[in-house]
Formats: sequence, C-alpha cells, structure tokens
Amino acid sequence: MEHQLVAILGFGAQYARAARLVREAGIYCEVFPETVPVKELTARRPVGILLTGGGYPDIGVPALRIAGAGDVERVIPFLQNECGCTGDWRMPAYVEETIAHLKEKIGDKKVICALSGGVDSTVSAVMVHRAAGRQLTCILVDHGLMRKDEPDQVERVCRETFDMNFIRVDAREEFYGKLAGVTDPEQKRKIIGETFIRVFERESRKIGRVGFLVQGTIYPDIIESGMGDAAMVKSHHNVGGLPEVVDFEEILEPLRMLFKDEVRRAGLALGIDETLVYRQPFPGPGLGVRILGPITPERVATLQEADAIFREEIEAAGLGRALGQYFAVLTNVQSVGVADSARTYGATVALRAVVTSDYMSAEAAQLPYDLLGRAAGRITAEAPGVNRVVYDITGKPPGTIEWE
Ligand code: XMP
Repeated sequence: MEHQLVAILGFGAQYARAARLVREAGIYCEVFPETVPVKELTARRPVGILLTGGGYPDIGVPALRIAGAGDVERVIPFLQNECGCTGDWRMPAYVEETIAHLKEKIGDKKVICALSGGVDSTVSAVMVHRAAGRQLTCILVDHGLMRKDEPDQVERVCRETFDMNFIRVDAREEFYGKLAGVTDPEQKRKIIGETFIRVFERESRKIGRVGFLVQGTIYPDIIESGMGDAAMVKSHHNVGGLPEVVDFEEILEPLRMLFKDEVRRAGLALGIDETLVYRQPFPGPGLGVRILGPITPERVATLQEADAIFREEIEAAGLGRALGQYFAVLTNVQSVGVADSARTYGATVALRAVVTSDYMSAEAAQLPYDLLGRAAGRITAEAPGVNRVVYDITGKPPGTIEWE
C-alpha cells in the first residue's frame, strides 16, 4: 500500500505538533533527526520537507521552514499546493500494512506481551495477535492495584473477543506482602516495578525460548525524547524495565509511528471495543500511587469502589471523552463525621478530573456541581469507611496529575 511521505527534520515538541497536524490532514509524515544522511532521506522518496534549522539537504523536493509558531498555519496549504499531497493516508490500510510487516518479521518465533489493560498495550497485543496468532502469549500480572473489575475485563477481551493465548497471574498477595507498611511514594513505585519484573520473568520463563517482546511505545515517546530510542524513555515511565531482564531477541513496537489519537483509531480498525479504546491513561503502578499512606487490601477495595462510582457518574454525564483523566484518590486524612445520629471517624476521598492535551500541564476540570454532589453522596454511602469527599481544584503545575 503506497502512500505519500512528508519528511519533518528535527526532533522535539514543536515537531511533534507539526507532525500531528499533517497526519490529521490524512498526510503521512515522519520525523527525522536533522543529521539524517541525504542518502537515507532520498531513499524514502518524500514528496516534501518541513524543517527549522540551518542548511539542509537539497534532494530536489519543495521544503518549508517552520521556525515560528505562525508558520505552522502554512504547512497544510504548502503540502497540498507545492508538494501535491492528496491526503492518501488511511488508518485501516496502515493497520493492515503494519500487520503484514509484523508477520514477515516474526516468522515462526514466539512472542510475549505484558498486558496492563491500557490502550497502548491492548492495541499492540491485538495487532501482533493478528500477525502471530497463537505464537503470541499475553501475560496479565494482576498486582491487585488495578481498577475495579479491570483484570476481568482485560481477560474477557483477550480470551473471548480475540481468542488469544492468555495467562493471568494472580500476584496480589505477593505485591501486598512487599508493600505492607510502606508509605513513601517513590519506594512504593520501586517495589511495584521490581515485583512486576520478577513475576513477569517467572511466567515468561515457562513459555520457553521467546523471539520477541511487545512494547506499547508510541510516536511521541520517540519524537520528544529526540533519541530515536524509545525503549529508553519507556523504561522510566512504565512499570518495570522489562527489556533488560527478560530473555528475548528483539522488541516489537507496532505503535511506534502512531500518536495517541491514532492508536485509538487503529484500535477501532482492529475491532476493539470502544470502552477499551477510549479508556483514559492509567499509571503503571496503578492505584498504588493513588493511595496515600499504607496499601492494604481493604484500602484498595475502598478506593476501587469510590473510583468506580466517580467514573460511572462522569461517563453517565457524557463527559468522559472531554477529560484527560478522572479518578479518585484515597487520602490519609481521617475526619469526624456523622451517620445515623452517631459520630464517625472516617476516611477522606479526593476526586480529581483534569483537562489536558499533553499531560505535561493540566487544568482541573470545572465539573458540574450536581455531578460532584451525586458522586459524593454515593461514595459516602457505598465505599466502606469513607465519610468525606473533596474535589481537587489544583492545576499542573503546581500540582501533578497523580497525588503521589
Ligand atoms: P503526573 O502525576 O506526573 O502524571 O502529572 C502525568 C501522567 O503520567 C502518568 N503517570 C505515570 N505513568 N508510571 C506510569 O506509567 C508512573 O509511575 C506514572 N506516574 C504518573 C499519570 O497518570 C499521568 O497520565
């Protein structure tokens, strides 16, 4: 499947913005470092070049300098009028093209994938499954810090909708045991990450010799790092640093050329359910970074209930897709309350909903008051031990999106 290619020379956030704009117009583009060898660039036969810095390679195609923010508006007319871009890039065709490449690369080797239930890992797994079928094994490590009913949902999709080789590891006790009494946020992250690796390693060893490990790396990870080596970036961000410890030959990154909204469109093209495709981002350490103070099975259950209620109310109001993230936090504040004419001394749940385009900065969402009231009423009635609910109106900065 041939489609036109536009080359963008230079890495960094502003190039990512230009690239998204071009892709939104149905024009396929890739970002190259400014130092890309002319031969390599020519071989890709771009129809046009966008660039910022000084000298550039003259390969006989029109080039536009996009130095200032205002120049970005000239990009699409330039590509259409000067470069003859027709907008011939379509997601379903791209998905099929990627699957064909994967099939060729994988051959008859085995593939493993760590599933978190997040959009990137699910879409990666389904895409690789289309290419590798039963050669792929997906491993879901249930660390007991996922959202309410989430492990079941992931299992249903993998087993029933896509008939995958699927292993669900119930590691809840192992995680809770390691986390007992730990209150420091960074230590929690470290323990969750290390335990995750150990469990994943143990399970993957049972599969035997593995050719490939699937990673849900996406294009912004590559562009914004400026290194062209996304595995480095993801290992800071994701649970674990799997590439170093699991024995495999190569990493497969089926989404490495896609932006987040394109990953969702690829997911839909693959037939993944909308509720999964439009799921909000969820941090690798899960609810572990949303429980202030010690993590216990009881406190996890309380937070899961409060969080499910809040999400249900947001989704019922049809607000989900307008928000970057929305969730509940179990604070370590106890306060006095009253129920059935008796004094209570219970837990405080904080609700957080943010509007953001890049998760680097965010604003607290101005949620309707009646929605907040309804959520607070239900949480204090249905989540065990909670007698107070507050709404977090802090932006990022100075706050972060997560509380820990
Ligand atoms: P913060 O809290 O830094 O979060 O404003 C920005 C985005 O990153 C997510 N996040 C994480 N994701 N591992 C992850 O995979 C982590 O340790 C982690 N901490 C924060 C957060 O949910 C938000 O989308």
